[in-house]
Amino acid sequence: MFSTSRRDFLGVSGMGLIAGLAGAKGWAAAPPSERVRHAVIGTGGQGKRHAQVFSGFEDCQVVALCDVDPERRNSIAQRLERRSRVAVHEDYRRILDDPDVDCVSIATPDHWHAPIALAALQAGKHVYVEKPCAHNIHEAMLLAKASAASGKCIQHGTQGRSGAALQAAVIFLREGGLGKVRMAKAINHQHRKPIGRAPVSEPPEGVNYDLWLGPAPEHPFTRNRWHYNWHWFWDYGCGDIGNDGIHQIDQARWGLGVGLPKSVVALGGQLYYDDDHETPDTQTVLYEYDDCHLMYEMRLWTDYPLEGLDNGVIFYGDKGVLEFGRNGCVAKFIGGEEKHFGPYADIGDHVRNFLDCVKSGAPSDLYAPIDEGTVSTILCHLGNIATRVGRTLTIDPETGQCLGDKEATALYSRTYRKGYELPAVL
Ligand SMILES: NC(=O)c1ccc[n+]([C@@H]2O[C@H](COP(=O)([O-])OP(=O)(O)OC[C@H]3O[C@@H](n4cnc5c(N)ncnc54)[C@H](O)[C@@H]3O)[C@@H](O)[C@H]2O)c1
Repeated sequence: MFSTSRRDFLGVSGMGLIAGLAGAKGWAAAPPSERVRHAVIGTGGQGKRHAQVFSGFEDCQVVALCDVDPERRNSIAQRLERRSRVAVHEDYRRILDDPDVDCVSIATPDHWHAPIALAALQAGKHVYVEKPCAHNIHEAMLLAKASAASGKCIQHGTQGRSGAALQAAVIFLREGGLGKVRMAKAINHQHRKPIGRAPVSEPPEGVNYDLWLGPAPEHPFTRNRWHYNWHWFWDYGCGDIGNDGIHQIDQARWGLGVGLPKSVVALGGQLYYDDDHETPDTQTVLYEYDDCHLMYEMRLWTDYPLEGLDNGVIFYGDKGVLEFGRNGCVAKFIGGEEKHFGPYADIGDHVRNFLDCVKSGAPSDLYAPIDEGTVSTILCHLGNIATRVGRTLTIDPETGQCLGDKEATALYSRTYRKGYELPAVL
C-alpha cells in the first residue's frame, strides 16, 4: 500500500515557479466559467487564512464557509461579502450536498480532518486538507485508499513542498550535492505559553459543541478543550509533533527520499509545564530506515535556536550539511563554502498548485499529494505511540502495521462516538 516510499520526486511535473498571491486581482477578474468554486470548512486561525488566500486568486471564488461557531463563520463571511454573497453553514454536510461547490478546504481541529475529507471525496469534491490529514493511523490509511480510488485532487497542508527553494534543494540532495546523506534532524523548537487549568464551563452561546466534538468522546466544555488549545488533548489533537513538527518531519522525509520506517524509538512527556496539557512538551523520536536515520527533536519551552535553527531540518552528508529553515535554505560544505537556495515556502504557492491541478484535472501534479501526506502523518502518530507505550516499535514498512505489539496497535484507531462513525471506504 505504501510502496510510494521512494516516490520519484524528480518525476513530478510543473517544477517552475508558481504564481504567488502578489499581483492577484481577486476572483472577480476571471469569467465565472473559469472560476473554481471553493468552500472553507473550519474558520479559525488557519481557516481564515484559507478564505483570504483562496479568494485572493482571480480564478477562484469562495462561495461557502462553515464553522460550528457562529461568531467565527460570520465575521469572515462579512469580510468576503464586500465582494460577493457567501453561503454560511453550521453543518459541513450542507456544503457537501451543494453540487455547485467544486472543492473544499478543511481547517477544523485534527479529529475532524479525515471524517470530512472522506465524506467530501464521496460527494465528488476536490479536497485541500490541513495537516495532519488524520487523527490516527487507521484514518490515514483509509484516506490514502479513498484518494487513490477517487481520481480527485487531495492536497495536504504541508506547504513547504510548494517552495521553489526547497524543491531545488531536494533535487540538489538527490543528485548527490551533499555526498551520501545518512541522517536528517527535524527540529521543532519554540516557546509556547502555558495553558493553565480551565474549569468546566458552558460553551459560548450559539456554538454547536456536540458537532465540534464529533467523533471524540463526550466531555464537558472547558476553555482549554476548545479553539486552538485542543491541539494538546489526545481526543482532538496530536501534540506539537502533528502540529508544527509534521512540517519538519515531512521535509526531512522528502529530502531523504524515504517512506515508512522499520522501527521507531521515542521518549517524551510533559517535563516543563504543569497545566492541562496531555501531549508532550519535550519529545525525541528516532525513525530507523535501511540506510539512514531521521531524528525529531521538540522542545516547546525555549526560543534557543538549536544549531542556529528554530523550526527547520538539517541534512547531514559526508560533504557537509544542508539546512531548511524559516530564514532560508543553505548548504554548508566542509571547508566553509556555502550554496544558498532562497526563501522559505508560502501557503499561496501551495494553494495555487492545488487550484492548477483542480483546473487541469491532474492530481499527479500536486506537490503534496495525500499519499505523501498520509505517510508523514503516520510518522507523527508512530512517534506519539512509541512515546506513549514507552518502547521501540517494529514496523512493516510496506503496510505500516506494527509487529507484535497489541497495545501499540490499539492506538492505531479510536472508538467513534455514535452518529459520527467514519464513512465506509470500499
Ligand atoms: N499548514 C499550516 O501551516 C497550518 C497553520 C496553522 C494551523 N494549521 C492546521 O489548521 C487546523 C486548524 O487550526 P487552527 O489553529 O485554525 O484551529 P482553531 O481551533 O483556531 O480553528 C478550528 C475551527 O474549526 C471549527 N470547527 C470544529 N469542528 C468543526 C466542524 N465539525 N465543522 C466546521 N467547523 C468546525 C472550530 O469551531 C474552529 O473555529 C489544524 O489542523 C492545524 O494543524 C495548519
